[in-house]
Order: sequence, then C-alpha cells, then structure tokens
Amino acid sequence: PARRQALLDQLTRRLKSGEAVLIAHYYTDGDLQDLALASGGCVSDSLEMARFGRDHPAQTLIVAGVRFMGETAKILSPGKRVLMPDLDATCSLDLGCPAEDFARFCDEHPDRQVVVYANTSAAVKARADWMVTSSCALPIVRHLKDAGHKILWAPDKHLGRYIADETGADMLLWQGACIVHDEFKGVELELLKREHPDAMVLVHPESPEAVVALADVVGSTSRLLKAVVEGTAQTYIVATDNGLMHRMRQLAPGKTLIEAPTAGSSATCKSCAHCPWMAMNSLQGVLQCLDHGRGEIHLEEDVRAKALGCIERMLEFTA
Ligand code: 13P
Ligand code: SF4
Repeated sequence: PARRQALLDQLTRRLKSGEAVLIAHYYTDGDLQDLALASGGCVSDSLEMARFGRDHPAQTLIVAGVRFMGETAKILSPGKRVLMPDLDATCSLDLGCPAEDFARFCDEHPDRQVVVYANTSAAVKARADWMVTSSCALPIVRHLKDAGHKILWAPDKHLGRYIADETGADMLLWQGACIVHDEFKGVELELLKREHPDAMVLVHPESPEAVVALADVVGSTSRLLKAVVEGTAQTYIVATDNGLMHRMRQLAPGKTLIEAPTAGSSATCKSCAHCPWMAMNSLQGVLQCLDHGRGEIHLEEDVRAKALGCIERMLEFTA
C-alpha cells in the first residue's frame, strides 16, 4: 500500500504539472478513476470522454479504457499524442465486427444509412454515416427515421433491438454482443427483484431483452449514475459493469447497490460483471505512458479522415 500510494502521488503530481491529461472510463479501476479526477482529468462515459479529449488543451492524452476510446480521441485530435495504459485492451463488439466483413454488409444494403456504435474500430467508422454512443443513440435514430431513412446498425444486437423497439425505425442489425452485458439473466433478475421489491433496476442497453424489460431506467453509464444520485429509492440493482459502482458509491454514499445476476454469479463470485479489457488498465500502465510514451495510438491518415465525419456529425447533433 505504501508503494501504491507513492506511485499515486507521483502520477498525480506529474499529471497536474501538465505532462498529460488522464481520461478514464467508469469501468476502469477505482484507483485510475480517482487519479483522473484528482489530477484535473475526467471520468465519464464514452461520449463525454470523446468531447473532453477533443476540447482539452493538453498535447498528450492518456486514455484509460478500451482501444476504440483511444482511437476516437486520436480521430478527433490528430495533432495530439494519444496514449493508452494497455494497447491490447479491446472490446468484444469491436472484435466481432471486422472491417472487411462489415464493408461487404454495407455494400449489400446501399439503401440504408449506416449507423455504428462507438465500440468499433476506426476502419468500421470510416464506412459509417453516423456514430452513436448509448447516451445519444435514441435521438439520433429517431431523427433519421423522421427523415425517412432505413438503417443498417452495427455491431451490438441488443442495443440495436432496443433502439428499434423504442423508435420504430427499420433497422437491419449486425449480430454482435458485449461479453459482459450479454451475461445478465432475466429470470434471476426477476427473482432478485422479488427479494427487493422497492429497489430500482438500472440496465445498460447492451443487456439482453429480458433484462431490459425489467428495468426502471435504461441508459448509458452516465445515465445510470445520474439515476442513483438523483433517485429517491434506497436500493438499486445495477445491470452493467461493476466498475461503475465505484463512482456510484462516491456520489451516492448512503445508498445500497446490488449487482444484477449474471450467468456466473454465485455466493463466491461477487463481482462477475467486469470487462476483462477494462481491467487491463493500471497505474503502472499510466507510468509507462508518462515515462516512455508507451501505448501510442497511430492511425492511417485516410482512415482517420474518413472516420472523422461520422463522429463529428454525432458531436454536432448532441452539442
Ligand atoms: P458508455 O458509452 O455508456 O460509456 O458505454 C461504453 C461501453 O463500453 C459499455 O459497455
Ligand atoms: Fe466492450 Fe463490453 Fe467491455 Fe464495454 S464492457 S468495452 S462493450 S466488452
């Protein structure tokens, strides 16, 4: 613990001095989230991470999250150095949507507007008309539907189905899934709800339909955090990566938080819902970024330039 504290102190000092700014996702370790906040960086959902990195004056951004978050930062700020504590931190949605297969899918459906989730590679974004995150997907798809468009959606099938149900839009879905959220179980959640009848159920829309159907609030990580902070209930059942609980506990200290059941939940596994790639981010990784410029994101300029359009469209829409 003494060495950890010394490392935290060193990193806080160096980040505060302006060497770089740390931008962390809610699913990363509590230590990293605290470091980002203590040093003038940010802890947020993926949409806010993109905005923060674009607008911050620092010339080096350290993005603690998964690969697509670092790539989005680089797409928006090509002149900045974008580093990640672990470049191998990927995402099952990104892995499950290879750019060539996706391009073929798009070619087969030229009559559709291509809308991709943020959790995709730069090459997939380069083929898209719009990028969305879970916090802005609904209004953007509604806008497209109202303009008479049919949609090709990738990669998350659960989020795609949820948006199609909510908006009534004609959406053709890629069949990807998040390995963390896909594990939440409707029947077990229903049983848990019976044990806690006054609890509010909060669900990230990457979860299966049966889980979403039991939710009081469906939304992005920041939306779920807001629901706990502002909610009048005492108890919350949370169906998303348990990394978010760290910030929930800090901002709503008196409230009771219960993890929603997953396929792997048991008495001995209290924290099953945690993204293995988010967990690859560490304080040591941040030190490597600062000391050696490790984990730099490089993108081919033509891919970056093509991917920029769909992200800018989203940022303008949500401004
Ligand atoms: P948010 O956009 O809600 O931060 O979600 C990103 C993510 O990877 C969810 O699993
Ligand atoms: Fe991807 Fe799921 Fe991990 Fe989010 S939690 S980064 S969607 S694998």
